[in-house]
Amino acid sequence: MAGGRIELVALTKRFAEAAVDEIDLDVASGEFFALLGPSGCGKTTTLRLIAGFEQPTSGKILLDGADVSSVPPHKRNVNTVFQNYALFPFLSAFDNVAFGLRQRNLSKGDIQGKVHAALDLVNMASYAKRRPGLLSGGQQQRIALARALVLNPAVLLLDEPLGALDAKLRRSLKVELKALQERVGITFLYVTHDQEEALTMSDRLAVMNAGRIVQIGTPREVYEEPADAYVADFLGVSNLMEVEVTERGPGSCCQLRLGETRLTAERGNLDYVGTAHVAIRPERVRIEPHGSDGPNRVPGMVERLVFLGAATQVMLRLGPGVPLQALIQNDGDHPALAQGTPVHVYLAPDALRVLGGSAAALPVAEEGPLVAT
Ligand SMILES: Nc1ncnc2c1ncn2[C@@H]1O[C@H](COP(=O)(O)OP(=O)(O)OP(=O)(O)O)[C@@H](O)[C@H]1O
Ligand SMILES: [Mg+2]
Repeated sequence: MAGGRIELVALTKRFAEAAVDEIDLDVASGEFFALLGPSGCGKTTTLRLIAGFEQPTSGKILLDGADVSSVPPHKRNVNTVFQNYALFPFLSAFDNVAFGLRQRNLSKGDIQGKVHAALDLVNMASYAKRRPGLLSGGQQQRIALARALVLNPAVLLLDEPLGALDAKLRRSLKVELKALQERVGITFLYVTHDQEEALTMSDRLAVMNAGRIVQIGTPREVYEEPADAYVADFLGVSNLMEVEVTERGPGSCCQLRLGETRLTAERGNLDYVGTAHVAIRPERVRIEPHGSDGPNRVPGMVERLVFLGAATQVMLRLGPGVPLQALIQNDGDHPALAQGTPVHVYLAPDALRVLGGSAAALPVAEEGPLVAT
């Protein structure tokens, strides 16, 4: 099986307002691609347009290079897995999976073979005779997956397929789903509002906001190089501080002011001057003894400590009144901190990322560590 390529060109869908607003996207054959964004940002509408359940107001959808605007849903080589499974309650698991095949006039033997292979693929072979009502949520979701996979689509559209499951089941199905996609080689377009799902499963993802795509990249790029404050905030991985960027340079950096403190930043949009956000990840914030000297140091105080096992989350309040989180490893190398301890905080220039202007283009990553797990 080979996966299909999906191209969206200025794709737009207006209801009362634009639900999908000039989206450009190119998903490669066999790619696991996630659409990530908050409720109402247009994820489901995008999938419904690709599946053919909605007609675009303008723009184009190409599947393997061919414009599908006039192709009805059942003739597109695309299948959808919905959040609520949408299984037929009165049919057995086997018959649910066989349903689509039976409409294709295949021989009985052929259908048997394909259904059993599909049930095997999702580890549900021993439940073939059960009706959905007697299966758990996770098992029903596997049947829904088998039902979509058995038709051998080039593209599988998945709309929050794990949304209704509890956290533990979600984690294990997440791993299985990713492995399954690699095995079958079908292109997956996976919709979710859960950043952890998108970051851990996808080859690439698009972050959406209000019908538009804000950023496209690999999980590492989007995590480490958020294009703007919206993405950084939505991924929930950075401290965001409002600053005044005063000037560019010298060299590839810029000067900014956080309250009265002057700082140098070396990452992000270095050409921007004016009010901006800077982001710094909690694991890059360094806590030093109060009174330590040198550039890029800000006085502050420990407000709260949260023990996380391997690490401790330190909630700080900087002199200018700004809250800041630090994450320190519990490796015995750090001095004991207590609530109310005055400290200095070192914000390394190469850890400070300026998110100035809107969705500004950003330089390519050079620094290495960490992708959220
Ligand atoms: N059939 C429709 N008629 C009118 N407005 C619609 C219709 N379908 C969706 N919308 C609107 O389009 C916008 C995008 O909806 P959509 O269902 O695509 O969001 P979503 O990203 O899938 O959200 P969620 O995470 O809540 O599922 C919303 O403002 C929604 O109210
Ligand atoms: Mg939706």
